[in-house]
Amino acid sequence: MADNHVRKYGYPVLRKKCRPVTVFDEKLKKFAEKMFSIMWAANGIGLAAPQAGDTRRMFIVDLSKQDFDMKPMVFINPEIESTEGNTVFEEGCLSFPGLYLEIERPAVVVVNYQDIDGNYQSVEATGLAARAILHEYDHLEGVLFIDHISAIDRDLLAGRLKKIKVG
Ligand code: NI
Repeated sequence: MADNHVRKYGYPVLRKKCRPVTVFDEKLKKFAEKMFSIMWAANGIGLAAPQAGDTRRMFIVDLSKQDFDMKPMVFINPEIESTEGNTVFEEGCLSFPGLYLEIERPAVVVVNYQDIDGNYQSVEATGLAARAILHEYDHLEGVLFIDHISAIDRDLLAGRLKKIKVG
């Protein structure tokens, strides 16, 4: 797959449940690099593999512009260990250009994952990092942020969603 663009709403790949990463090799590193370049080109803070047309369980988060202590991170085969609390905050998604929605999510998340070398890691995240991790994790299950709003709100957005939708 040579095309370097974010798959927009309507691409069937965005509704696929992703499969575990089993091979940690140079190709995987190259794919992670490709994901970063796609995300940076789109000024995003997170990107999941399906948005790059791939159905492996991996996503990236880069909040280094928002939080200088945080390096760009690759999460492979992530598992949500626990969540805590609730917050509502405006959220966007690169697969839905120009659409921002108030989404309720846990305030704290502990996620276990493998890094790009296959080593097991765990991180506790709060604030925007927690939100980004939970949003990207959803993508691996074929879940999109519009699934978190009520059916009534989704009906109200129908016209805008139709304009965004590809195919
Ligand atoms: Ni998204």
